[in-house]
Amino acid sequence: MATIKHGIIGTGGMAHAHARSFQAIRGITLHGCFDVAPGRAEAFAEKNGVKHVMPGVDDLLDACDSVSVVTPDAFHAELSLKVLKAGNHLLCEKPLTTNLADAKKVARAFQKAADQHGTVGMVNFSYRDSAAFQKAMQIAASGKLGAIRHATGKYLQAWLSCNVWGKSISEGWLWRQQVPPGGGKAAGGTLGDIGCHILDFTTGVAGDVKALRCTTRNFPKVNPDTGQTMTSYNGKKLDANDSVLIELDFADGALGTVETTRWATGHANQVALGVYGTEGALEIDLERSYTQLRTCLGKKRHQCEWDEIDCKPTPNNYARFVKSIKTGHNDQADIVRGAQVQAYLDACERSAEDGGKRVTIKKWV
Ligand SMILES: NC(=O)c1ccc[n+]([C@@H]2O[C@H](COP(=O)([O-])OP(=O)(O)OC[C@H]3O[C@@H](n4cnc5c(N)ncnc54)[C@H](O)[C@@H]3O)[C@@H](O)[C@H]2O)c1
Repeated sequence: MATIKHGIIGTGGMAHAHARSFQAIRGITLHGCFDVAPGRAEAFAEKNGVKHVMPGVDDLLDACDSVSVVTPDAFHAELSLKVLKAGNHLLCEKPLTTNLADAKKVARAFQKAADQHGTVGMVNFSYRDSAAFQKAMQIAASGKLGAIRHATGKYLQAWLSCNVWGKSISEGWLWRQQVPPGGGKAAGGTLGDIGCHILDFTTGVAGDVKALRCTTRNFPKVNPDTGQTMTSYNGKKLDANDSVLIELDFADGALGTVETTRWATGHANQVALGVYGTEGALEIDLERSYTQLRTCLGKKRHQCEWDEIDCKPTPNNYARFVKSIKTGHNDQADIVRGAQVQAYLDACERSAEDGGKRVTIKKWV
């Protein structure tokens, strides 16, 4: 197969991870990039050895075989539809879109392109790169946990109370702190940004959810220069949710919770999961290790005795994307999975807007 020509749309922070990761993979080359901010794509191309800065999205689609969409969330739907319509393979950043209606459109376009042209489409749920997560999915699927009764997922960040990633209030962070255009009142924010990761992580191991309850909260921010509280920045409201609690009702009858916040002082970026069944349990804490998980299985469960398991390294999403293009077998997490996670986010928004009422998950089709 000829070298895959890859293009990147949106050349901000996360695009550098895409560039670095694809550079490390044989059989794909960074052919083009595009950004709406003047000069940004040029600097990105220079730094990352991208061959061409493209004058527009259409030019990039014409010149490339595959594309990363790495813009703010609100542009994912429109750009992903363009990518799929043009016949390019798609690696879209998470969350797939900012609302379920758009996610359905993208998923349908993906299925059509996949059926007709073998187009590959994936969503970059990065924590699937951890060997511990891949092993946990295998253990749960093997039945070793017995019937799953309970699951707890948490994703904790601290950037609103700690300067671990620089100043929390600035133009660069702004789109993450505002309700995105096209989303409901509880859309975007922590729920859309990292809630999508932990919902994928938790349900990827513990199984599908049929209903949920959700509460979101927005707190006044702290001006990093003056220490004073603020609710807007340069005239723009900081109205997106910061903290989220979700109660999960799994399709197989188990119960669970997901919690996520940007106010977890002391935890720059912690993703953790516990899944508990009638015959065993597993726990992951990515702050501790990406390649180890703990299990309490078989007879050992009667003594509550845990084993540390070293997990076989797993290829990252970028490598699995390239392999998918080469083999024609679309790996996880495909665009349909992205739409499924969007259905969970949609249910969270509906519940949060209705005072935490129990809502059922709408099917993504
Ligand atoms: N998978 C992960 O773990 C992970 C981590 C961080 C960010 N992300 C996702 O990556 C995406 C980008 O996040 P980021 O932190 O890089 O944001 P960012 O603000 O640093 O960069 C976004 C870039 O997109 C450009 N842009 C905006 N609209 C555009 C358009 N219509 N066409 C082309 N370029 C456009 C902006 O000018 C900017 O350069 C988001 O969807 C975010 O959720 C994913």
